[in-house]
Amino acid sequence: MIIIKNKLAIDNMRHAGHILATILEDIRSQVVAGVSTYELDSMIEAQMTANGLQAPCKGYGTYRFATCISLNDGIVHGVPSKEIILKSGDFVKIDVVGSYKSYCADLTRYYFVGEVSATARRIAEVAQIALDSVIELVRPGIKLSDISALVQQIVEKEGFGVVRDFAGHGIGQHFHEEPSIPNYGKPGKGPIVTEGMAFAIEPMITEKSFEVRILPDGWTAKTIDGGLAAHVEDTIVVTRTGVEVLTRLA
Ligand code: MF3
Ligand code: CO
Repeated sequence: MIIIKNKLAIDNMRHAGHILATILEDIRSQVVAGVSTYELDSMIEAQMTANGLQAPCKGYGTYRFATCISLNDGIVHGVPSKEIILKSGDFVKIDVVGSYKSYCADLTRYYFVGEVSATARRIAEVAQIALDSVIELVRPGIKLSDISALVQQIVEKEGFGVVRDFAGHGIGQHFHEEPSIPNYGKPGKGPIVTEGMAFAIEPMITEKSFEVRILPDGWTAKTIDGGLAAHVEDTIVVTRTGVEVLTRLA
């Protein structure tokens, strides 16, 4: 069942989303060579707490951190570690869920440490174009899989792959709600999108093969062939005529 959000739910999700968007912007100056992903996670969590947000990823199954931080060939669910120290050339993705009065927002931003490769810049740009295009597309009356098809079409046209093993999702009082929103598929299928639905849209794309493997930590995913992976994410709510992005500042 897809839960339709009322005004109170949307207000709380927007509050969480704006705080998180501010935190992931402010952290930019700290994403530099020499810092560990553990330190970045701690700084973000401290800012969340200071601003009245909970971190529902912490304690989700065996997961113990507020954020997921993935480098280079890492894609989603990178576990923060004191041993993972950023170096020049790293392509960093930070994914965080925050909740306010139990209502969640989920977003992912990317960062470059020093100079990165042209491929890193391009794959990041294509992921961002795919996300922005979905935001332009979504309005009441489209079919859910129109989102999936649009992402796949944009990404594959550029010669990149879309990850099959992870998907975007509905979001509300739980950060993973129905429906699942894959980044590939045929258009015109699935439920009709209606006002009040809230989605986390998250293109996850790869330089070469779209296949990923999970590391022994049980969480960190990497591309199978070591190619780069990009990931961007925003939480959106469907309005009467389009969408409101809850995780971007005006
Ligand atoms: N932010 C992730 C998502 O978009 C959820 C991470 S679950 C965790 O689905 F437990 F790994 F944090
Ligand atoms: Co998500």
